[in-house]
Amino acid sequence: MAITPAQQETVLVMDFGAQYVQLIVRKVREQQVYSEIRPASMTLEEALAEKPRGIILSGGPNSVYAPGAPTIDPAILEAGIPVLGICYGQQLLAHVLGGEVGRDQQEREYGHVPIDIVEPDILFKGVESRTSTWMSHGDKVTQVPPGFKVLATSSNSPVAAMADPQRKLYGVQFHPEVHHTACGKQLLRNFLYDVCGCSGTWQSGAFIEQTVAELRAKIGEDRVLCGVSGGVDSMVTAALLDRAVGEQVTCMFIDHGLMRKDEPEQVIAAFDDWPGVAQFVAIDASETFLQKLAGVTDPEEKRRIIGETFIRTFEVESAQLGEFKYIAHGTLYPDVIESGGDATATIKTHHNVGGLPEDMSYDENIEPLRLLFKDEVREVGRQLGLAEAICARQPFPGPGLAVRIIGAVTRERLDMVRETDAIFREELQAAGLTDEIAQSFSVFVDVRSVGVMGDERSYAHPVILRAVTTDDFMTADWARIPHDVLARISNRVVNEVGGVNRVLYDISSKPPATIEWE
Ligand code: XMP
Repeated sequence: MAITPAQQETVLVMDFGAQYVQLIVRKVREQQVYSEIRPASMTLEEALAEKPRGIILSGGPNSVYAPGAPTIDPAILEAGIPVLGICYGQQLLAHVLGGEVGRDQQEREYGHVPIDIVEPDILFKGVESRTSTWMSHGDKVTQVPPGFKVLATSSNSPVAAMADPQRKLYGVQFHPEVHHTACGKQLLRNFLYDVCGCSGTWQSGAFIEQTVAELRAKIGEDRVLCGVSGGVDSMVTAALLDRAVGEQVTCMFIDHGLMRKDEPEQVIAAFDDWPGVAQFVAIDASETFLQKLAGVTDPEEKRRIIGETFIRTFEVESAQLGEFKYIAHGTLYPDVIESGGDATATIKTHHNVGGLPEDMSYDENIEPLRLLFKDEVREVGRQLGLAEAICARQPFPGPGLAVRIIGAVTRERLDMVRETDAIFREELQAAGLTDEIAQSFSVFVDVRSVGVMGDERSYAHPVILRAVTTDDFMTADWARIPHDVLARISNRVVNEVGGVNRVLYDISSKPPATIEWE
C-alpha cells in the first residue's frame, strides 16, 4: 500500500546517476516541500501527471558527450515547469538548449570553490556576492544557451550559474545540496519558493492527518498485525495505525534475546504506558533463538537463521490470535529506492522491523512510512507524542547483537557485549556526547590475550568500542571521543564486565570500513 502525498506541492528530482541523489530530495524536504526521485527516462507525459511545481536535474558521473550518457526529454524543458540543473544537470541544460559544454579534463574543479555573483537574480537572493561552494566536475558550460545569462563565475568556471528567468530555467555548476556550499540552503529555498512558487505544505502534521485518513479508508473494518521492535520506524507505524483504526490493531513484539540491555523491558513498558493500543503481545523467544544459533559463526548464516526463526515464531504466535487481513511494516524511503538510483522504485526485500516475513499469509502489506526518511519519521513520532527516547533511538540491526559478536553467539558473550555497551552508553550520556554521535556500540571478538589483574595473569577477551558520526549512514567517521571519557569507559569495563581484560576503540572511517563489524 502506498500512501500518496495527494495535494502536496511536489518537486521531482531526476536522477542522472548522482551518488547522493537522495541528499537533494532530503534537502528539498527540509524546506517543507515534498520531493521524490524519478528516473532520467521520465517523459513529459509522466512528469505532467504528477503536476510538479518544479524539477531538479541531479548531477551524475558522465560527460554529456559520452556514448549512452543519460539525457532529458527536451519537451520537459519547454513545458513551463521551473527547472534547476545541478552540475551534470546544468551541463545537460546547456547541451540540449544550444549552449556549449567544454571537455577540459585537465582543469577539474574539486572541493571548496569560491564563486562571484555577476548578475543579480532571485536565485541568489540573500546570498553574498562572493561565496564558497562545493564542486566536483571535469566538463563545464563554456557558453550559455540562447536566452540565458551568466549569474556567477569561478576562477575555472565561466558559468558557475546561469538562468533564463523568463522560462524559469536555472543551472548551477556547484552542489547546493551539500553542507559545504555556504549558500546551498538559501539557493534551494529561493528556487522552491520564489521560482517554483511553493508555499511549504510538507509538514509532519499534514502527513499524519492525511496518512491516518488513508489508512482508515484502506483498512475499513479489517484487522492489522503490526510487528514492533522498539525502534522508531515500527513504533511510529504502530502509532499511526493506532490513531487510524485503534482496536483493529494488534502489535507483536518478539524478543529474540539479541537486544541491548534493558531494551525488551523498555519496549514492554512503552506499550504499558500507551493506553490506546488495544492489543499488545510480547513473546520471549530468546531461548529458541539461542539454541538455533548455537555454534554458528558465519554472519550470513546467523542472519538466515534469525530471519527464519522470526518467521516461524511470528506465524505460530499470530495464528493463535485469529485472522489478520493486513500486516504492517515500517519500511522507509531509502529501503524502497533501488540502490543505483533508477527510481522506478523497485522494492527491496527488507526486514526492517526486525525480520517481519515477506511471504506470510496476509492479504496485503501496509507501509505507511515508505515515502519518508529517518529524520522525518523521528519528527512524525514527536508529533504523535511518542517518547523522545523512542524518537531519538539509534538504528539497530534487525539481527541485533548477533552481528556484534564475531564468532559463535553464546549467553556469556551476549552478556559481555551488553554490559560493555550499557557502560559505553551511560558514559557518553554523562559526558553529553549523545547528540553528536549517530551510532555507538560494542563488539565482541573471539580472541584472547594475556593481561594481569591483581596479582594474577589473565587470559581473557578484548571488547571493541565503536562510535561514529554520520548524516546518512552511507559514509561515516569515527567519533572523536575525548581521551578522559574513553579512559573512564575502559576502567569501568575491565572492572565491571567479567571475562574482559582489554578495551579497544575503533578509529576506522567508512569507507573503507563499515559501521558494523559483520
Ligand atoms: P554498515 O555496517 O553497512 O551499516 O556500515 C550501515 C547501517 O545499517 C545498519 N545495519 C543493519 N541493519 N540489518 C539491519 O537491519 C543488518 O544486517 C545490518 N547491518 C548493518 C547499521 O547498524 C548502520 O546503521
